Amino acid sequence: MSRLKESNTAMEQPHLSLVDLVKVFRDGSGSETRAVDGISLDINRGEFVTLLGPSGCGKTTTLRMIAGFEQPTDGEIRVRGENISRVPPFERNMPMVFQSYALFPHLTIFENIAYGLKIRKADREVIRNEVAVASQMVNLVGLENRYPGELSGGQQQRVALARALVLKPEIILFDEPLSNLDAKLRIQTRTEIKRVQHMLGITAIYVTHDQAEALSMSDKIVVMNRGQIMQVGSPEDVYNHPANPFVADFIGNANFLESRITAVGDSSVTVEIGGSSFEIRAERVYDGAAVGDEVYVSAKPEAMDISEGPGDLMGRVDVNSFVGATTEYKVEFDGQFITVIHSNSGGSVKLFHLDDEVAIHLYPEYCRVYRR
Ligand SMILES: Nc1ncnc2c1ncn2[C@@H]1O[C@H](COP(=O)(O)OP(=O)(O)OP(=O)(O)O)[C@@H](O)[C@H]1O
Ligand SMILES: [Mg+2]
Repeated sequence: MSRLKESNTAMEQPHLSLVDLVKVFRDGSGSETRAVDGISLDINRGEFVTLLGPSGCGKTTTLRMIAGFEQPTDGEIRVRGENISRVPPFERNMPMVFQSYALFPHLTIFENIAYGLKIRKADREVIRNEVAVASQMVNLVGLENRYPGELSGGQQQRVALARALVLKPEIILFDEPLSNLDAKLRIQTRTEIKRVQHMLGITAIYVTHDQAEALSMSDKIVVMNRGQIMQVGSPEDVYNHPANPFVADFIGNANFLESRITAVGDSSVTVEIGGSSFEIRAERVYDGAAVGDEVYVSAKPEAMDISEGPGDLMGRVDVNSFVGATTEYKVEFDGQFITVIHSNSGGSVKLFHLDDEVAIHLYPEYCRVYRR
């Protein structure tokens, strides 16, 4: 039934490829938005890939083009090497799970999950079996006769997931599916989604602007900004080896300290911050660094610590937020604000108060240097 045929080389091809994909929206006054601006990406079978980026960077538009709800202005979408531009959405078998569950309120949970199979005119017996399997998979057994209004948000989202799973999807698409859930349920449900996806080996494309979600769920993260891809890599890769300051800032909330290069050696450069010198390994510095360059030293909160001092960088506590396992401090230092996350493990940890004078310790092995 599906027009997407298995070809001989299916195993060697990426499952899905985006090739120079572009989407330009034109409004009535003729002004243009390049929502997606030349994206190329290969996704392998069974991979969990996250599109991560700030609001408006083109995540949903990319997903909608993959689903077929939106026609690309330019470029191609290929499934196992075959261009699917002319395949209508319902034949792509790539269901989308949304933030707003989009369940039918007047249908029971069973009927909601069965909906796609009914449309396909599947047998009653088949429907009953498939719905039972999907309900079991997402822990909904016993709730089949209720209506969506009688379920919690997390349960409704699991119905949406089951409704997609019964279709045995080619690829499953998620657009910020957890945004309406509270913090604890978000973590539970993301574990659940990941478990089911992994168990079934389904290829998944997941859109979010939440870095913790992306880091914890993905095989591969695609960091986007202004319709373009900034970096593609494993969670460890994009976190520890950000390709540019945008990625360092977006994933990991890096601090950018104004600094200057004072020496360049074979394997390291020396930077000066607040009158103190720090040596940073060459592979963490841009190519062609020279003495006198004005730079930013990027340091993620965990690349620093805080103490009573004395220390190299003395500052003043501007904000302290105790969040249990850690305390997040914003420290004013030399006219700049620096975020430091201090672990409270070990019990008798000193907490600092507003306006306390504190020392910031910088661990240069975790810092990077970017041109200013
Ligand atoms: N139908 C449309 N007509 C005109 N412009 C659009 C349309 N849909 C999206 N855009 C614009 O395209 C850009 C990308 O939008 P998109 O919805 O893909 O962003 P997003 O990354 O999903 O953001 P968010 O995290 O806020 O959901 C935005 O500037 C948006 O205003
Ligand atoms: Mg969106």
